[in-house]
Amino acid sequence: MRKNIKIGLFGFGCVGKGLYDVLLQTSGLRAEIVKICCKDKSKKRPIDLKYFTFDKDEILNNPEINVIVELIDDADAAKEIVFSALKKKKAVVTANKKMVAENLSELLILQNKYKSPILYEGAVCASIPIIRNLEEYYDNDLLKSIKGIVNGTTNYILTKMFKEKISFESALNSAQDNGFAESDPSLDIEGLDAKYKLNIILAHAYGLLIEPKDFINIGISRINSFDSNYANEKGCKIKLIAHSYKIDNNKIASFVMPQFIDKENELYGVDNVFNGIITESSFADKNVFIGKGAGAFPTASAVLSDISALTYNYKYEYKKLIQNLSCTSTDNFDIEIYLRIKNSKYIDFKYFQNITEKYESNDASYVVGTINFNTLKNTGWFENPDYSIVLKGLK
Ligand SMILES: NC(=O)c1ccc[n+]([C@@H]2O[C@H](COP(=O)([O-])OP(=O)(O)OC[C@H]3O[C@@H](n4cnc5c(N)ncnc54)[C@H](OP(=O)(O)O)[C@@H]3O)[C@@H](O)[C@H]2O)c1
Repeated sequence: MRKNIKIGLFGFGCVGKGLYDVLLQTSGLRAEIVKICCKDKSKKRPIDLKYFTFDKDEILNNPEINVIVELIDDADAAKEIVFSALKKKKAVVTANKKMVAENLSELLILQNKYKSPILYEGAVCASIPIIRNLEEYYDNDLLKSIKGIVNGTTNYILTKMFKEKISFESALNSAQDNGFAESDPSLDIEGLDAKYKLNIILAHAYGLLIEPKDFINIGISRINSFDSNYANEKGCKIKLIAHSYKIDNNKIASFVMPQFIDKENELYGVDNVFNGIITESSFADKNVFIGKGAGAFPTASAVLSDISALTYNYKYEYKKLIQNLSCTSTDNFDIEIYLRIKNSKYIDFKYFQNITEKYESNDASYVVGTINFNTLKNTGWFENPDYSIVLKGLK
């Protein structure tokens, strides 16, 4: 039997208000917002103040409320709210990738112990229904890889840099002016947001539970006009890509890194704030998902879909984890990279297995070659902002 959903909503910002508007237009769904909890008592609200509270317990202790929708911008406070809700046997819907990625193991335990589900489609690529697909569609298919553009802000910045031939700084300013980047954009531009999303994907795609800190993320803040000119000359764009692929049966390579994308690649035309995901599997072959990865309505649509799923008691079964495929993470694989630095004397060529291109000038020097990922991790180049590293290809 379908359930009536009584929602306690946390957060009434971009996505929270988006969800409110979307719910008004979906009369078929048996769901209503009972109360909204926010933080700032002095803020003007676009709807009647009687709906608001500033005390989280007023929602968490309300027996009428059976679903908590958590849409706040503070991962620590979100963790407290979500953990408390699950313990009180309330179902949870959230779009908070940082909170989910950093606490996935504990969230699994809580769901099992208290028999209360948490759904988080909106946390990964907003409007693209990738988590539900990984859970349901690819259940019996053998996924070989899943990769893509999972962060709209960096895609917007890179698109601007390539289309308008402007610097990273100007493109970032434009993203901030248009509301696509936060005033502190580091989570996006350093690839952390993409890493949180990849972390969640790994659990649903391969049953791999690892900590976000255990794999590498390089963002786009080091990309300059020299790199984008190089890409243009090769007929490529640069995109920030979250990668995961099977090296052999149960070893998974995963990392976030800028990559040269040529015209043949399905992600070449995925520009601006759009996200794109490519899955490759043994029997289905290649599938491509493209959609808006951010914004009030695209994200609210995923949250709405999760709320709707709760009306028929849907929960993630973490099938790949249960199948016990024993996937483990590995850094022992080879990739081809482009490495640019001002002075080539700071490139130690011995780390490369082979070198296919080399260039030196007063402005910049670069080398293109194959390197083992583990070796690359130990060079110190990841940590040093003077080194721009862009993936050329997988080996
Ligand atoms: N924006 C997007 O496109 C997008 C896309 C995918 C996922 N998400 C995720 O969705 C979540 C919400 O993002 P957003 O863009 O809607 O954020 P936002 O516009 O900054 O709104 C944040 C809301 O959270 C409330 N809040 C903050 N701390 C709180 C606390 N301790 N208790 C109660 N309320 C609190 C704020 O209250 P006040 O109104 O009182 O300030 C505000 O209403 C985040 O996890 C984000 O990562 C966003």
